[in-house]
Amino acid sequence: MSLEDLKNRIKSDLPISTIIGQYLALHRQGSGLVAICPFHDDTKPSMNVNDSRGMYKCFACNAGGDAITFVQKYQKLEFIEALKEICQKNGINFDAYKEEKRQNPKMEMAKRILSLATRLYRETAKSKAYPHYNEFIIKRAILDESATTFSLGYAPSKNALTEYLKTITDEKDRKFARDIALEIGIIKKDRNNPEETYDTFRDRIMFPIWDSLGVVIGFTSRAVREGQIPKYLNSTDSLLFNKGNLLYGFHLAKSHIREKDAAIVVEGNMDQLALYQYGFKNAVAIQGTALGEQALQRLIGLTKNIYIALDNDAPGYKAAERMNNQLLEKGIIGLYVNYDPVKDADEFLKAEGGIKLQERLDNARPMVDVILDKIFPEKVPELVNRKLDVLNKAFEVVKPLGTNLEATERLINFAKRLGLTSDAGQIRKSYEDYLAKNKTKPREFAKAPVQHTENESETLDENLTNDAEFLSVKTFVEPIKPVQLNSERLLLQELVQNPHAFSSPLVSEILDLLPSDEVKKYITRLKRLVYEIDEGEYSSMVSNLMSNEEVPLEIKEIVSSALYQYKPRNIDEKVLSRLFFDLKIKIKAEILIKQKEDLKKQQDQFQTELELNELLSKIGHIEKELQVLKKLKHK
Ligand code: UTP
Ligand code: MN
Repeated sequence: MSLEDLKNRIKSDLPISTIIGQYLALHRQGSGLVAICPFHDDTKPSMNVNDSRGMYKCFACNAGGDAITFVQKYQKLEFIEALKEICQKNGINFDAYKEEKRQNPKMEMAKRILSLATRLYRETAKSKAYPHYNEFIIKRAILDESATTFSLGYAPSKNALTEYLKTITDEKDRKFARDIALEIGIIKKDRNNPEETYDTFRDRIMFPIWDSLGVVIGFTSRAVREGQIPKYLNSTDSLLFNKGNLLYGFHLAKSHIREKDAAIVVEGNMDQLALYQYGFKNAVAIQGTALGEQALQRLIGLTKNIYIALDNDAPGYKAAERMNNQLLEKGIIGLYVNYDPVKDADEFLKAEGGIKLQERLDNARPMVDVILDKIFPEKVPELVNRKLDVLNKAFEVVKPLGTNLEATERLINFAKRLGLTSDAGQIRKSYEDYLAKNKTKPREFAKAPVQHTENESETLDENLTNDAEFLSVKTFVEPIKPVQLNSERLLLQELVQNPHAFSSPLVSEILDLLPSDEVKKYITRLKRLVYEIDEGEYSSMVSNLMSNEEVPLEIKEIVSSALYQYKPRNIDEKVLSRLFFDLKIKIKAEILIKQKEDLKKQQDQFQTELELNELLSKIGHIEKELQVLKKLKHK
């Protein structure tokens, strides 16, 4: 069954009044049902619910649709999540839709093995026959309910999984299962006897790791014995699992993140579990590594309010600084959570409890301010040179923000605190010089007011984004057609065929350039979808997105022909980055050319020579920019 079938099944099996009735009070009125409309400030019941048509409609605010779009809108859910919720509330097995789906057989087998292993470890744990597990649960105060939610398991010292896989009766199936289990690293070959395998995880507390839909894609596991190393052992990267893009607990947290419009990012799975148990359900763990770009995008797609709540130790602080910079580069001011005097969320909750943690969250300060305070000298130096040294350090701290006001305002205050007497303009100028000298990579300067300097700098990238005229290009291109540029058409095709590319920051950059709102809107939707689903579901979900009435026909046509040629593949990141770099240039160039044509059309409308000269100089400027564009190379 496909998701589309599931949707149809819900619509045919469940009256819309049953589904809406689970959220709103329905009243009979004449031959139909009505409710107070939740989508506007309603006083009398304005919303009609029509079972025979399977539709609802508010006659006051015009909201309307079927049962699924109702749940989407009411609960602020994506399509799949709404389906899931309806299934849950009405006793339909949501996962069944997947079973009949044709998928990559290797991937399917990998998932089967992982789900089987999850059950095996869970049952082993539940047997209470292993003191290590029992003691862990007690010592860490894990409730039964949490153990169930997190499917906590235990891998005993014997080769439980190896033995289990041997019991598969069909020989071909058994061999295939063994190969895949080896490939995903959950069992290993015995060096002395390559015919034999042993379990990777032994004597360990097992934590399944899920994808965003709750399918197990790997494990993390904790040692139980004194001196047993490593303390945490993770699944190796495989066809399903990618540690760099891991956000432990994301599938449990995502609806809460959306609802609270905030996310707490912690270091370890035990912290995430403890938070969840205490009712802080909007938390995810990065598992002691750096936050991968894709994970970051997934997170900030849900909220821009991020609590950086990593361990209160030196490596934790370093990781927090790095994450803070990643966020600043996206214009997001991360909030720093301080656990002093303990080490992490888990310990803090045990020592101080949930109310105290909430206080810490409420008092969390922008991490950039925490760092600025840290570099501020205890005793303000008297020598101007020393003061300027400190100011330079502050430049470095806010640098990822570029010339965003969030950066310059802080610097101006910082300079005052240091007792510097330069005015705001001078501080700003000096910071801009610092930025020009210490360029890392091109990033958006667009949010800050644009300032032209005499010194036309060497790299075009910044010139273009810095250029007020360039930014206003959008107004030149009239919004008539949904897709206005040929390069937008190309972009759509490439993105549909390479969903991996969404993890590249280039795509967000490109998005900001696009003149066509419809294309932008569609790509944003697609991006969101990509983060929510698995590769195996990609094609059907993109098709599904196309059944949405709001998507213009022209876009549907481009997407469906691109999708027709789509196949899952892993393209080298360099290749992708070059591809999208070239596209970015194409788009910029096409916009400039259009702008030039528009100007040329205006040529004969001008009366005075002055106006004409101005026009010609504008055209000349564009031509110059086009020249620079042509010379740009991918680094
Ligand atoms: P910590 O050592 O801080 O563990 O590592 P923790 O979260 O406090 O764990 P408990 O409370 O002692 O059980 C933080 C994270 O770093 C990763 C793990 O994901 C862990 O949750 N880590 C740590 C490893 O991957 N390997 C290790 O050997 C240790
Ligand atoms: Mn801990």
